[in-house]
Amino acid sequence: MHEVDMMHKGQYLITFIHPASPVNHEMVKKLAAAGVISLTLDGIPRISRAQNMDALTSMSTCAGYKGILMAANDLSIFMPQMFTAVGMLKPAKVLVIGVGVAGLQALATAKRLGAITYALDIRPAAVEQSKSLGAKVIEFDIIAEVKVAEGGYANKLSDEWLNKERQVLSDIIADMDIVFCSALIPGKVAPVVLTEEMVKTMKKGSVIVDISIDQGGNCAITTSGEKEVKHGVMIQGIKNIPGLLPTSSTWMFANNVYNLVKYLTKDAQIYLDMNDEIVRSILVTHNGEIVHSGTKEAMGIN
Ligand code: NAI
Repeated sequence: MHEVDMMHKGQYLITFIHPASPVNHEMVKKLAAAGVISLTLDGIPRISRAQNMDALTSMSTCAGYKGILMAANDLSIFMPQMFTAVGMLKPAKVLVIGVGVAGLQALATAKRLGAITYALDIRPAAVEQSKSLGAKVIEFDIIAEVKVAEGGYANKLSDEWLNKERQVLSDIIADMDIVFCSALIPGKVAPVVLTEEMVKTMKKGSVIVDISIDQGGNCAITTSGEKEVKHGVMIQGIKNIPGLLPTSSTWMFANNVYNLVKYLTKDAQIYLDMNDEIVRSILVTHNGEIVHSGTKEAMGIN
């Protein structure tokens, strides 16, 4: 039995629905038909007053931190520089591709473990934030119109620009011990920035963590949901990384949901103000109808 079949009219559903994604269209139609009032957490706008409801940011924080620990665990060398009686061991080099919330957390975690950190992103703000975390920035000369879309997110690159980015990465990838892939375009398939040929140039015993695997992955040969050694490189495509940090991720998620419910509650009742930006961005089904603009557009409904 599908969970939606167990719900009844007037019930509220608050979760990650990803309603615009075609795989979820049937479920969204069922929610509307059942009279469920559904609110999607992935729709929370990235504005200051909604920050404490932003579960996407909470989960990305978990994935960035735990993803680096997973990489460190599989790495064949120490992360920090070590001075031992038999000599000095150099610190690991960690490259983060796509420095959003998860990537920034990955950079900070790798730095705390003593690695030398490198960052590549196409958004100028992300580049600045990487620098402030002590990362060396991989220069990629990309013209202004190409990089930032509406809402401050990254634009999907054309094949021509993606090839230029791969070229930049090809020059440095062989030197890296960990490559952390967290480049995403909201609502689109993740850009493939690492090809199999590029992986072949990497050192044996190095690690790739591809946390964008849910959106297809940034590395062409990541196996979804698995950890596999290919060309001597451990490639991790583990899904649901926040689930590997259950107490902290649940605490953050619960607080995000609590803050959202508190925000929506007036005089002990949930009140949905359709003029409110937060409500408009998260409300998917209401009064038996699909009301979410992005979802309607994706479904071709006026
Ligand atoms: P995301 O998970 O959608 O993307 C991750 C990163 O991948 C982004 O930094 C993006 O620029 C980068 N990227 C995309 N294509 C790339 C490519 N070809 N090569 C290299 N990097 C590529 O982003 P996330 O973490 O969900 O959020 C990023 C945006 O949201 C930023 O504008 C951030 O400042 C904003 N934000 C605002 C919040 C607030 O004010 N409440 C909270 C969280 C994020």
